[in-house]
Amino acid sequence: MKITPLLLAAGLGTRMKSQTPKVLHPLCGRPMLTYALEAVKAVSSEKPVVVIGHGAEAVREYLGESAVCVLQNPPLGTGHAVLQAEFLLRGASDLVLVAYADMPLLRPETLIRLVETQQQNSGPVTILTVVADDPRGFGRVVRGADGSVQAIVEEAAASPEQLSIHELNVGAYCFRSDWLWEALHRIPVSKKGEYYLTDTVELAVQAGLAVQAVVTEDQDEIIGVNTRIHLAEAEAAMRKRINAAHMLAGVTIVNPAATYIQPGVTIGRDTLIWPNTYLEGKTVIGEGCEIGPETVVRDSTIGDHCKVFKSVAESAWLEEEVDIGPFAHLRKGARLCKGVHMGNFGEVKDSTLGPGTKMGHFSYIGNATIGANVNIGAGTITCNYDGVNKNPTEIGEGTFIGSDTMLVAPLKIGKRAKTGAGAVVTKNVPDETLVVGVPARPIKKLSRDE
Ligand code: UD1
Ligand code: MG
Repeated sequence: MKITPLLLAAGLGTRMKSQTPKVLHPLCGRPMLTYALEAVKAVSSEKPVVVIGHGAEAVREYLGESAVCVLQNPPLGTGHAVLQAEFLLRGASDLVLVAYADMPLLRPETLIRLVETQQQNSGPVTILTVVADDPRGFGRVVRGADGSVQAIVEEAAASPEQLSIHELNVGAYCFRSDWLWEALHRIPVSKKGEYYLTDTVELAVQAGLAVQAVVTEDQDEIIGVNTRIHLAEAEAAMRKRINAAHMLAGVTIVNPAATYIQPGVTIGRDTLIWPNTYLEGKTVIGEGCEIGPETVVRDSTIGDHCKVFKSVAESAWLEEEVDIGPFAHLRKGARLCKGVHMGNFGEVKDSTLGPGTKMGHFSYIGNATIGANVNIGAGTITCNYDGVNKNPTEIGEGTFIGSDTMLVAPLKIGKRAKTGAGAVVTKNVPDETLVVGVPARPIKKLSRDE
């Protein structure tokens, strides 16, 4: 059975008061629209159709090849919006799953239930409802004496009696395609001059056809975003959902309300996360780590048993048992091999620090390849940029870089060498050689125990 998802995203989003189309506002780091797209993917492998209008070009660009866009201009209501896809879907799909793109918390499981219910339904449509204390301005679901769904009444058109109904229309529907298109052409125009998709329910009932309803128990699912207050509400609910999934999978989150984990981040068991920690993008964290507090990890891989304390890592790779912070800054291409220790006020960019290397305090390491068990003294700087090019530095294993050494790149320092405190090293240093001064010069060959 062919099921085509159809997402409505053409509304004005006036109440967001923004230059950015509503559905592109970020929620936990991703445009809101992404969540609806992901949710419908679980239901159908068909490319979703997205109805765009307000901010059409930006939305189209964001969607790229991931969806088929149809334009609705002007926006004349949700029924009119669906109708814009008729030329694509009439006769080309068995079921059409309609959802609103501004409802990022709708879960794939719920949409699957909606479709499965419609597959059993002799009638042409199944709707998603919720029973809630706060009506949120939603359409009310009117049921007959036998409990069957009779109509959806929009708040503006509802009688006082209907206003007191607690069952609400969430805004996700599964239609039989062969019935939908013809019904949409018969929707009456509302007082506001709009065509309401919700009126299809009454059309089915009038024709003696069964309308089914799936009732969701998850109150968070129904958070639709119309204002930035709703956006924050949706963000908090999404954060709670993401954090709960990690906790159930064995991650300790000391304060979930202050832990910001984007979707797609993976975290191993027995990792502990302290508050005010942001785990973003394509981040992978191993088992038994301790992350935070006050830490940002973006697009980075962190191996097992690492400790990241009050630090920032962007596009970095920490192997196992690495310990950094407080106030360490790892930038793009930083690789810290097993057992590296990096203390306060260090920055590493496009560099590898070999296993067991220590960089305790106040250093900048850029475009460098550093061997195993190197000691990088306080205040060491790789002078990697000559105003035009970034030049490489190589340091061999077991070398000791004295405090405040300037390593003027391009530069190669051999194995088990030493630089004196304050050295400005402008020439390559052979293995097992001590250099001192400005500019640094060799003063002796080192014996093994020096
Ligand atoms: C709609 C439902 C209401 C439901 C509520 C849940 C209708 C008539 N009413 O009301 O029963 O309880 O959602 O949130 O459907 N859109 C278009 N083109 C348009 C108008 C809207 O694409 O011409 C899109 C919007 O971008 C939005 C979605 O459809 O994503 C819903 O539109 P909105 O105006 O927010 O409808 P509500 O008044 O919230
Ligand atoms: Mg709405």
